[in-house]
Amino acid sequence: MISFSVSTAEVKMPDLFSIGDAKAGSELVSTCAACHGVNGQSISSDWPSLAGQNQRYISEQLKYFQQGDRENALMMAVIPYLKTLSDSQLLDIAAFYSSQSPAVGQAKDDAELLALGESLYRAGDLERGIPACTACHSVNGAGNAQAGFPRVSGQQKGYLISTLKEYRNLTRDAGDYSLVMQSASQNLKDSDIEALANYMHGLYQQ
Ligand code: HEC
Ligand code: HEC
Repeated sequence: MISFSVSTAEVKMPDLFSIGDAKAGSELVSTCAACHGVNGQSISSDWPSLAGQNQRYISEQLKYFQQGDRENALMMAVIPYLKTLSDSQLLDIAAFYSSQSPAVGQAKDDAELLALGESLYRAGDLERGIPACTACHSVNGAGNAQAGFPRVSGQQKGYLISTLKEYRNLTRDAGDYSLVMQSASQNLKDSDIEALANYMHGLYQQ
C-alpha cells in the first residue's frame, strides 16, 4: 500500500522524478489538439484540460491508456499511436502540457452550490466519511507535482463530474492511486459531485 501522509503542496521536496523535454513533446501532440486544445486547454466541458497538469500524473495516465488499463471511447482513437511511443516520449508529452498555463474556469454563481462545494473540498464531511480534498489536491487545487496528485483547479466541469462518478462506481480503476479516489468518492451523492465540480472548475492558483 501507499502512504499518503503528504500535508500540502507547499512542502518543498527534491524532484526525484525524471523530467521530460517539453519542446520534443510539442512535436508529438498534433493528433491531441482536436480534443485537448493546441495548448492543452480543452474546448469541451466533457474533455479534460491538460495544461499545467503535473508531469508525473500525465505520464502515468498515458501509460494506463497505452496499456489498456484506463479505457475511454474517445481516447481509443489515439491508442495505436500511443503504442508507438517510448516511455521517454510519453514523458516529453507530459512535460509539454505541464509547461502550459493552466486553465481558469468560472464557477456557477449559485451561493448554496458554492458553499457546499467549498465546505466539502476544504473540510470534507467526517460524519459522512468524505475526506478533505485539500489534503492531496491542495487548497488552491494545484495538486502535488512530486507525489503525482493531479491538479483539479480550472478543470472542465463535465469531465470532473463523469470521472468522479467513474471512481465511485469503480470503473476508473487503473493503478494503485485510483483506489484512493474510489474510497474518497464512495459516500459522495450526485449533488455533492455537482457542487465539488463547480467549485474546482472555478478554483485558481494565486
Ligand atoms: C477524440 C478526442 C480525444 C483525442 C484526439 C485525445 N484525447 Fe485525451 N482524452 C479525451 C477524453 C474524452 C479524455 C477523458 C477520458 C476519461 O474520461 O477517462 C481524455 C483523457 C486524457 C488524459 C487523462 C487526463 C486526466 O486528467 O486524467 C490524458 C493525459 C490525455 N487524454 C492525453 C491525450 C494525448 C497525449 C492525446 C494525443 C496523442 C490525446 N489525449 C488525444 C479525448 C481525446
Ligand atoms: C489521499 C489523497 C487524496 C484525497 C484525500 C483526495 N484525492 Fe482526488 N486524487 C488523488 C490521487 C492520487 C488521484 C489520481 C488517481 C488516479 O491515478 O486515478 C486523484 C484524482 C482525482 C481526480 C481526477 C483528476 C483527473 O484529472 O482525472 C479528481 C476529480 C479528484 N481526485 C477529486 C477529488 C475530490 C473532489 C476529493 C475530495 C472529496 C479528493 N479528490 C480527495 C488523491 C486524493
